[in-house]
Amino acid sequence: MPYYRVMGEIPRKRHTRFHRPGGGLYAEELMGEEGFSSDSSLLYHVNPPTAIIKSDALADFAGEARLAANHPLLPRHYKTQELAAKGDAVLGRQPLMGNDDIRISFVTVDSPSELYRNSVGDEAVYLQNGSMRFESVYGAIDAVAGDYVIIPRGTIHRWLPEPAGPAVPVTALVIEARGHIRTPKRYLSQTGQFLEHAPYSERDLRPVRGPVFADGDDVPVIVRNRGGLTTLTYAHHPFDVVGWDGCLYPYAFNIADFEPIVKRTHAPPPVHQTFEGPNFVICSFCPRPLDFDPQSVPIPYNHHNVDSDEMMFYVGGDYSARQGSGVGIGSITLHPSGFTHGPIPGAVEAVIRGMEAGRTTTDETAVMIDTFRPLLLSDQAAAAEDPDYAWSWAKAASHD
Ligand SMILES: [Fe+2]
Repeated sequence: MPYYRVMGEIPRKRHTRFHRPGGGLYAEELMGEEGFSSDSSLLYHVNPPTAIIKSDALADFAGEARLAANHPLLPRHYKTQELAAKGDAVLGRQPLMGNDDIRISFVTVDSPSELYRNSVGDEAVYLQNGSMRFESVYGAIDAVAGDYVIIPRGTIHRWLPEPAGPAVPVTALVIEARGHIRTPKRYLSQTGQFLEHAPYSERDLRPVRGPVFADGDDVPVIVRNRGGLTTLTYAHHPFDVVGWDGCLYPYAFNIADFEPIVKRTHAPPPVHQTFEGPNFVICSFCPRPLDFDPQSVPIPYNHHNVDSDEMMFYVGGDYSARQGSGVGIGSITLHPSGFTHGPIPGAVEAVIRGMEAGRTTTDETAVMIDTFRPLLLSDQAAAAEDPDYAWSWAKAASHD
């Protein structure tokens, strides 16, 4: 995380005696990345954060990923609205695709989650609809539609959905990394301040507010590690932190706060990059002026990123390049390495006609994930697949 914060009560010096009002000392917990060599935060607990009393394997839950290669090779289109399963924001996740670096899931949230700690890597939860309160040992975030909530590895937290109404379920895209999700280095100064050319800055990040307190004994926490899921029962509720300081904590960033970068002719997706993770990037396509050269072609050219698989989640507006392909709000497409993709035939001419009639902006909103290793596909995704998508370019061309 880019910058230092203090929340709640902490002693003046690190690793000194910090007395509880009723007697005894608060218990320190240093949460740190890369073995004391990267960002960390120092938390002060009322009770020891080490006291566990039980460990039980948690197996055979609905969201377990069963992934297989994209073979025979095809571009894919999934309609998330057709994923029927619901659940809490942790165990209700429906894995769609993944590899050794990342797992991408979709969840329709209908209930509060248990306490959860992902010890495999950071998570980015992109809230598509509704709102959710995120509570953690660091504090809380009131997440709204369009928020990416970035959760550092090892953070004990829970999700409490707040539906806007029965007609609009709480839905989210969940990105689980096997490592850390960070701001691209090129947006930051040597010492971590956002640079002026970056498409967002410190003021756009909403850190946790806290602390959040909860009482209780014998409290279960679901822990994900590389072996699977375990329910660890803690002697005392983990939400007993009176204060912390450091550069490691959860925060939210709303896609509407991304400042799009526009060129005179079409700019490639790196201008939309929002986060980076191990062997993947996350980009935000936001409403913006169309490319403004009178001769510009303001939608993507056909391209083949030979080192990447490209996943796109369509969350708002009209995505001109996909018009006529069956892709709409809630769709997820996968354009894998080995396949050249681009606008549906006729889309370029349609957008040029629009410009000639006075159109100057695009209202598209989409989240894109490019991975540098192939994405495997899940059983759950197959149930929501549009089998005709792969042939949509050829069908449109035959109508020209
Ligand atoms: Fe692309």
